[in-house]
Amino acid sequence: MGMKKDYFNSATIKSQQLIPGEKWHKYEKDVIPLYLAEPDFLIADEIENALIEAVRRGALLYHYEPKTFEAMAEKIKKKNRINAEPEDILLTQGVSPGMWLSIMHTCGPGDEVILTNPMYGPFHDAVEITHAKKVYWELDFDEGYRFDEEALKECITPRTKLIFVCNPHNPSGRVLTKQELKSIADIAIDHKIHVFSDELHEDIVYDKREHISIASLNPDIESRTMSSWGFSKTFGIAGLQGGYMCYTNKEEMPEVKRKSKGPLRETNSLMKTIAPIMLDDTLNWWRRDIILHLEKIRDLVKKRLSDIEKIDVPELQGTYLIFPRFNYDLNSEQMNDYLLKEARVSLNQGTRFGSNGEGHQRICIATSESIMNEALNRMEKALSKL
Ligand SMILES: Cc1ncc(COP(=O)(O)O)c(C=O)c1O
Repeated sequence: MGMKKDYFNSATIKSQQLIPGEKWHKYEKDVIPLYLAEPDFLIADEIENALIEAVRRGALLYHYEPKTFEAMAEKIKKKNRINAEPEDILLTQGVSPGMWLSIMHTCGPGDEVILTNPMYGPFHDAVEITHAKKVYWELDFDEGYRFDEEALKECITPRTKLIFVCNPHNPSGRVLTKQELKSIADIAIDHKIHVFSDELHEDIVYDKREHISIASLNPDIESRTMSSWGFSKTFGIAGLQGGYMCYTNKEEMPEVKRKSKGPLRETNSLMKTIAPIMLDDTLNWWRRDIILHLEKIRDLVKKRLSDIEKIDVPELQGTYLIFPRFNYDLNSEQMNDYLLKEARVSLNQGTRFGSNGEGHQRICIATSESIMNEALNRMEKALSKL
């Protein structure tokens, strides 16, 4: 096995520019891209080999792979502690389609979906395109982005049909506590509301924190929660578009599957073929080593950004996305433009995640120490001129 390769810390600006993909090619060549939630890491040998093997075996036809569903159910039972069986699982093209599908299942026109402000952009988009109504559960940076139960209760109306949970949370970097999840679950049960839980970043939690799936708390919340996971963030294979959603509600799941039939076509055959090795213990070494690397980068970023007087840095508990606040006389969009032009670093502007992202930039830290340091040097220099 390729344990000697430096999977996580070897990226250089030159090496990344040789790889096709949006991240390093969207902007001009001298720009360091930290805007997209995608790692600058190598691909695990096990994944590369499994893909090549799948192509050689001709796994490129309409693909029926019962083993994939079995492996998913096994993983969900063991790791997420949800009583999943293969028929409770729907394959999706990444995690994002589940946002749309959960609204289609629970909401009619004018029904309300609760989402946090800030929250990953496509959650907002999903509500907009389905003609449901967004109701914002406000998260406050100065309160450590805590998920406040009373604030959630105030969002509930007779039209509330769905709560979007993102755990670990993009962009706040929070890993929800059991108590926070329990508050959401209790409210959802009391008011007969469904939950869609995006747990794509489940492996990326720091300081030995535990990722808890909301559906695992009790059978009542399990029966109203659609939970979703994928492979893109942990293994750096977003281009394969592989995700899976689990809903153990036997009465409702056939209808969810039926609704998915039009626009969703599971995922591709290569993804289906290689999924089992990303679900069993084969890549546990990767899950361990990625955290060791990311904790180092997180500490480096925290220290260097905190040294800049006008930046407030949140505690990063999970995900490789950090959401600092820049306290300058520029709004989010202006700061984003300034750093692109002056520092040649591209960040994701905070308002893309909701109005509470004003003043913030989201920075992807999943890169090598050398690229991270170079980006921070450039930012530091540019900011010192303001
Ligand atoms: C919280 C969250 N959900 C969903 C996605 C999209 O993932 P996918 O490509 O698997 O749909 C991302 C990507 O950054 C994300 O951070």
